[in-house]
Amino acid sequence: MNAKRLSRFLPPFLFAILMQFVAFFTLTHAAVAPPTGDHLALLAIKSMIKVDPQGVMTSWNHSITNFCQWQGVYCGHSRHHRVTILDLPSSGLIGTLSPSIGNLSFLRFIRLQNNSFSGEIHPEIGRLFRLQELDLYNNSFTGNIPATIMNCSNLQVLNLGRNNLVGKISDEIGLLSMLNLLMLRKNILEGGIPPFISNLTLLETLSLGNCQLGGSIPDVFQRLRNLRTLVVPGNNLTGTIPPSFYNCSSLEQVVLDDNQLNGRLHENIGLKLPRLQLLLIKGRLVIVEQLTLLKPLLYRSPCDHK
Ligand SMILES: *[C@@H]1O[C@H](CO)[C@@H](O)[C@H](O)[C@H]1NC(C)=O
Ligand SMILES: *[C@@H]1O[C@H](CO)[C@@H](O)[C@H](O)[C@H]1NC(C)=O
Ligand SMILES: *[C@@H]1O[C@H](CO)[C@@H](O)[C@H](O)[C@H]1NC(C)=O
Ligand SMILES: *[C@@H]1O[C@H](CO)[C@@H](O)[C@H](O)[C@H]1NC(C)=O
Ligand SMILES: *[C@@H]1O[C@H](CO)[C@@H](O)[C@H](O)[C@H]1NC(C)=O
Ligand SMILES: *[C@@H]1O[C@H](CO)[C@@H](O)[C@H](O)[C@H]1NC(C)=O
Ligand SMILES: *[C@@H]1O[C@H](CO)[C@@H](O)[C@H](O)[C@H]1NC(C)=O
Ligand SMILES: *[C@@H]1O[C@H](CO)[C@@H](O)[C@H](O)[C@H]1NC(C)=O
Repeated sequence: MNAKRLSRFLPPFLFAILMQFVAFFTLTHAAVAPPTGDHLALLAIKSMIKVDPQGVMTSWNHSITNFCQWQGVYCGHSRHHRVTILDLPSSGLIGTLSPSIGNLSFLRFIRLQNNSFSGEIHPEIGRLFRLQELDLYNNSFTGNIPATIMNCSNLQVLNLGRNNLVGKISDEIGLLSMLNLLMLRKNILEGGIPPFISNLTLLETLSLGNCQLGGSIPDVFQRLRNLRTLVVPGNNLTGTIPPSFYNCSSLEQVVLDDNQLNGRLHENIGLKLPRLQLLLIKGRLVIVEQLTLLKPLLYRSPCDHK
């Protein structure tokens, strides 16, 4: 029996009461429906945050059932209401990053830099194959960089700098062919500058400073036609600058300070690297005289101490 037919049989006031009861029941029923999917994953992420001094997650509560309206959470335009951006940098958050982040499978940008996340970067991050940016700079993450990161094949920005990550820079990162920024500086890594960077042909910025890397600089710059910034100071790099470095004519900023590099810079470095604006190579490298003839080039000589 539908509402129209019902209204014919019941007195008007009774009909009104019945309809209100139906509406009330429907509403409360909707409100108590348990969260699912992205909603559930976000609540799991919140549950691992111990301290939220700025209250950035205050809006992540049950009175706002549309999680796309929560602070720092952005959804795509489609009607499916899937989270595409998690953006809570510099928020003072203290806690760990729940592995449930891997359930937010539409995520494209994660920006959690300048917080105090500790614990591991869980392998579940590898489920985010749409991810373009992972910015966890300046937290306290420990453990290895998970090998599953190779599944995030759309990553363009991988910034894990200023954490307490350990271990070898995993070769899997070499499979992230879309990378244009790789920043791992200030971690406690092993090994040297990984040869796989030769495959990262879209790379614009490579920052591996203060990572306790050793060995020589691999001769792998041939194909890095987009590399503009190479920053690897404060390591234990030895040997000389490899020949292919001088083929990398896109270079604008090179910082190699505080390593144990030897030898001489190429006499024609200014011709070979015409875009070079900044060259910091304090250490044992000998700088050829011609360097001083170059245009606006800022550099520190071996004797020019801070
Ligand atoms: C995340 O996804 C896994 C696998 O689909 C599921 O078992 C788990 O309950 C989900 N966790 C949350 C918090 O949604
Ligand atoms: C839920 O979030 C809204 C919006 O930020 C806020 O006004 C409200 O106080 C929050 N409720 C609770 C219980 O935290
Ligand atoms: C991190 O915080 C510092 C100090 O507040 C600020 O200068 C810097 O821009 C922040 N960095 C990022 C990447 O948000
Ligand atoms: C790192 O983040 C803290 C806040 O957690 C901020 O005070 C500090 O300035 C940041 N450092 C850098 C180098 O961005
Ligand atoms: C990585 O991708 C492979 C192949 O698509 C899949 O089998 C595997 O489960 C993925 N790993 C993670 C952590 O998502
Ligand atoms: C570069 O990529 C090719 C093709 O995927 C692979 O065979 C090779 O081992 C990679 N080189 C390095 C140094 O990782
Ligand atoms: C260089 O190596 C020495 C000896 O292994 C170590 O004591 C030192 O901390 C390293 N320096 C850097 C900057 O990694
Ligand atoms: C590097 O550049 C020189 C010319 O400056 C060229 O002869 C050589 O073939 C180049 N090497 C590679 C590997 O591109």
